[in-house]
Amino acid sequence: MKIAVVGATGLVGSKMLRLMEEYGLTDVELLPAASERSVGKEVEFAGKKHKVISVPDAIEAAPHYAIFSAGGGTSLQYAPLFAQKGCTVVDNSSAWRMDKNVPLVVPEINIDAVEDHHRIIANPNCSTIQMVMALAPIHKAFGIERLVISTYQSVSGSGMKGLQQMENEEKGIIPSPVTAYHYPIHHNVIPHGGDFDNQGYTTEEVKLVNETRKILRDPDIRITATVVRVPVSGGHSEAVNVETKKPFELDEVRRLLSQMPGVIVVDDPSRNLYPMPLYAYDKNEVFVGRIRRDESVKNGMNLWIVSDNIRKGAATNAVQIVCKLIERRRS
Ligand code: A2P
Repeated sequence: MKIAVVGATGLVGSKMLRLMEEYGLTDVELLPAASERSVGKEVEFAGKKHKVISVPDAIEAAPHYAIFSAGGGTSLQYAPLFAQKGCTVVDNSSAWRMDKNVPLVVPEINIDAVEDHHRIIANPNCSTIQMVMALAPIHKAFGIERLVISTYQSVSGSGMKGLQQMENEEKGIIPSPVTAYHYPIHHNVIPHGGDFDNQGYTTEEVKLVNETRKILRDPDIRITATVVRVPVSGGHSEAVNVETKKPFELDEVRRLLSQMPGVIVVDDPSRNLYPMPLYAYDKNEVFVGRIRRDESVKNGMNLWIVSDNIRKGAATNAVQIVCKLIERRRS
């Protein structure tokens, strides 16, 4: 089996190689691709060095699967060309997510959205993935009416540039020669993710609204979001206020969350236990805590959701999709 990783030199792409190793996807011919700048460089995979090739060369090799994390423009241009060769593309960019012919998948929730004819499958936004992992069992049991979301997103969500900007500023190299943001991020908090629309919302906020509705298959959920970048190197956190249609007991919510594959409840205020990015770092799971009733509405609760955005928010989710499809197509 041939698997291409497009963007193999990037932050998410290189993590995808590690995830393929962790998930035992090593008995494959790897085609690591990146921009022309990187052709000929080497990446490590399964104990061997592999030369980076160009995207056209990867298409030419007609891989069975291609996992993309090289930005929306690259996905828009090249994903259809891979697909034409019969390859199944799992794309981590936002380019295809809202296309009605493209399933938007979190395997624990809706791998059934992928049908045999689908050749492009979208990996959701990092903040959406970790949030819906916690919300899916709640939605199924009680029906979600409304969500009010505030995110605290790490700089690794902006790729190498985000990390480099923060590292430079921490070392006193100001202004940083590499910037991902309009302002310094060290010692700062920036309420701006992506571009603003004419309503004053950012593209990252709009993604949370639209992608959540698509994955939970419910266009009627009322959702509002504020996306904030914080000076944390890895791991996104989210405060999510949830209103449900049906009444619930918090014990039942805790039980449902504990039973959700890939979710770990960390919620013991008496011992100061709650999820934090430092402890979610390099883990594949989504951590949920601060589970408490919102007494200001009839059926309301608050959740605090934390996950490693480069893992479950990107690389882990994409590799899990490929593993599920390989498993399904083998049986
Ligand atoms: P390169 O390293 O050659 O620039 P990150 O999000 O960490 O910045 O990574 C982005 C990834 O996408 C890198 O692997 C980068 O390759 C790749 N990439 C960027 N632009 C293109 C392009 N036009 N074609 C193919 N790969 C690209």
